[in-house]
Amino acid sequence: MRNSFVLFLAISVFIPGSVAVGGNPEKGLQLLLDKAYLPADLDQEVFDALWTVWPEPLKSKAEQASTAERREMAMNRYGLLPHPSDPSRSMQYVVGSSGNWTMSCLACHQGQVAGTIVPGIPNTNYALETFTEEVRLVKIAQGKSFGHMDIGSLLLPLGTTSGTTNAVMFGVALMHHRDAALNIVSRSPRFDLTHHDMDAPPWWHYRKRKTLYADGFAPQGSRMLMQFLLVRENGPEKFLEWESDFEHVEAWLESLRPPEWPTEIDTRLAGKGEPIFREHCGHCHGEYGENEVYPETVVPIDEIGTDRVRFDALTNKERSALNESWFGHFGRDAKSIGNRQRPLGYVAPPLDGVWASAPYFHNGSVPTLWHVLHPESRPPVWRRTPVGYDTQKVGLEIEEPSVSWFAEAVSGGLPSAQRRQYFDTSKPGKSAEGHTYPNALTHLERAAVLEYLKTL
Ligand code: HEC
Ligand code: HEC
Repeated sequence: MRNSFVLFLAISVFIPGSVAVGGNPEKGLQLLLDKAYLPADLDQEVFDALWTVWPEPLKSKAEQASTAERREMAMNRYGLLPHPSDPSRSMQYVVGSSGNWTMSCLACHQGQVAGTIVPGIPNTNYALETFTEEVRLVKIAQGKSFGHMDIGSLLLPLGTTSGTTNAVMFGVALMHHRDAALNIVSRSPRFDLTHHDMDAPPWWHYRKRKTLYADGFAPQGSRMLMQFLLVRENGPEKFLEWESDFEHVEAWLESLRPPEWPTEIDTRLAGKGEPIFREHCGHCHGEYGENEVYPETVVPIDEIGTDRVRFDALTNKERSALNESWFGHFGRDAKSIGNRQRPLGYVAPPLDGVWASAPYFHNGSVPTLWHVLHPESRPPVWRRTPVGYDTQKVGLEIEEPSVSWFAEAVSGGLPSAQRRQYFDTSKPGKSAEGHTYPNALTHLERAAVLEYLKTL
């Protein structure tokens, strides 16, 4: 696997204007890679024994492998990537001196495209639920106590399709146990949450947007970035202590730039696509090139027609509670985004580097840009190859089993680790419908727009 990470870091910190006030991007990345903010999830001994609970023939293969090979097999199984300074461990978990592994933001927010690690690209291989399940089995075998993820995953689903997670609802579940100043209040757990999986967006959007999330209800800010740290072990004092760390993390996010399409572009065809894009897409997605414009348009939910579970899963009361809390400086930050804190639908995201951030839509239901442009041909069930990239359709290389084959496999007892590799658009929160704007174009026009999208 090519690792352009270190090189990219060296370049990005020297881009003028890329440094946020008060933060140092390089320091932000170091913190993300090396500082643990949560209680540990597992230790090295557990990680090194994970193969013992794998299915055959993988288990026998691992048994015969060296420790280093086995660690690599484990990282591949769970969608983890090598740490830039120590490839024997994962960059998504901070490993302390005692060998404890702690999940970091990079678990969901640092992945690869076509086998290349690009800074800020979401981790669309992360098999969080499978990892947690197997860690739990090994802990039982080793007589070790459960951590917060082991217990949490018994109460709520972590992610029913690999590469996507129920992260938004973790946040709602955790916020339920805090007051506005983040003091821990004892309340009985909520069992009325609408669990659903989301595809994390690329972090290089951060410099363009004013708000966060698919519905854009929260203003950007270094405090808002800290929600993921709301576990019981972190009291309000920890948030104050770590606030300055997240100014550096925010500077890292702001320093990121989208990756460039790695091979040739048919510039004549892309040139034809540009005016078509401007006419049919630009008023929502903005203008690119010399004079960048990004309107951050919110499209009403019935009009956009993509899966609405994410939109309905949060109430305006929950949205306000977050904005009125410490994370939003007790309502001060939300003033800068006006009525966006009570959104009507989803934000049209920036399309910079969009070739690299497949799968598409907030729920990750559409594997390639060609499928975004051909709504009637979107696959109902699909599975990506581990790191394959489809340069023709521009996005993930996939297998498309027939719906009846898949239904039979599931009822025949397809093991859950395997089932999670398939994206089943018939499940709640996973619809690939909607966003039918490309239907106004001829097939030739769509081919031109597809070529143009590679240039962004
Ligand atoms: C378990 C996976 C997971 C972890 C861990 C995680 N995130 Fe996220 N993050 C997500 C998902 C999913 C979204 C999309 C949520 C939405 O749009 O509603 C998201 C959204 C974001 C966004 C908004 C991006 C945008 O363009 O809207 C930022 C910024 C962000 N996360 C930063 C962080 C930081 C910083 C951390 C660590 C403190 C972190 N995340 C930890 C999954 C995760
Ligand atoms: C009326 C506003 C609007 C128009 C017009 C529009 N889009 Fe979108 N687009 C959106 C919204 C909103 C989303 C987010 C949908 C979601 O995530 O559920 C989106 C998502 C996308 C995505 C997926 C981005 C990602 O990172 O997941 C692509 C690609 C895209 N649009 C391309 C286009 C193209 C090409 C056109 C013109 C043919 C177009 N859009 C026209 C509003 C629009």
